[in-house]
Amino acid sequence: MSAGLDGRFALVTGAGRGIGAAVAAALVEEGARVLATDLDPAGVRSLAARYPGRVTARALDVTDAAAVDTLVDAAEQESGPLDIVVNVAGILRSSEVVDLTEEDWAATFAVNTNGVFHVSRAAARRMTERGAGSIVTVASNAAGVPRAGMAAYAASKAAAVMFTRCLGLEVAARGVRCNTVSPGSTLTDMQRALWNGDAEAAARRVVEGDLATHRTGIPLGRIAEPADVADAVVFLVSDRARHITMHDLYVDGGATLRA
Ligand SMILES: NC(=O)c1ccc[n+]([C@@H]2O[C@H](COP(=O)([O-])OP(=O)(O)OC[C@H]3O[C@@H](n4cnc5c(N)ncnc54)[C@H](O)[C@@H]3O)[C@@H](O)[C@H]2O)c1
Repeated sequence: MSAGLDGRFALVTGAGRGIGAAVAAALVEEGARVLATDLDPAGVRSLAARYPGRVTARALDVTDAAAVDTLVDAAEQESGPLDIVVNVAGILRSSEVVDLTEEDWAATFAVNTNGVFHVSRAAARRMTERGAGSIVTVASNAAGVPRAGMAAYAASKAAAVMFTRCLGLEVAARGVRCNTVSPGSTLTDMQRALWNGDAEAAARRVVEGDLATHRTGIPLGRIAEPADVADAVVFLVSDRARHITMHDLYVDGGATLRA
């Protein structure tokens, strides 16, 4: 089933690897032109090489509000109005609260929350003027259930979810939809960084659950691939979701039991 994104112009943050790279590729496969951005430009450059003429690569630090505005301005002047914006850039610094530093807390919110604010605001200002557009924020299922060692991350993602829903309410009457996709464990560098030692055993614990950390397993019995998350994003930005806004779509194999 095609999402029909021919001719659409999309900005993706954190597109250098993992879920962001999968989102950018999926948008291109559906016909969109993509401005792929990342703090580390290496990954987005290889994406641009893979899709010549369809993907433009730019370095962008989403924590820098001025840089975000400059990039969005330049992109629209060069390539036309943005139809789609997907916030994927994110960081995870795992630590129990008693050991969490102020720097860890601030850095986590700077990317996961402030970054979403900077990029979404820049997009919404322009999209509302034109009366059309779609914004998706990739949050996390950790925004909905308590997780040990993830207080800063989960709080920053919960803030990003509520921010995106409030924005969706404000801009709905001006033709702009805002939704979130909340993945569970997904096979990327971020996930693997949590697996100290035996990766196979760690992956099994993720699927089967871990009583010691009060963590349920994944009812569907597998860890997500980045493409599973990208498919949900593609649906939400497409016209097939034209009557959906302020929605939080969990892509976690049932891991949180949607509790
Ligand atoms: N992998 C998972 O299990 C999982 C689960 C739930 C949610 N998520 C969320 O999905 C998103 C993508 O995660 P991933 O697993 O692909 O992670 P990843 O670490 O593989 O990729 C994240 C990307 O974001 C970029 N980035 C980091 N800071 C940035 C900044 N300041 N400005 C711009 N780009 C920046 C990194 O350079 C990297 O390319 C994140 O928001 C993450 O929190 C991931």
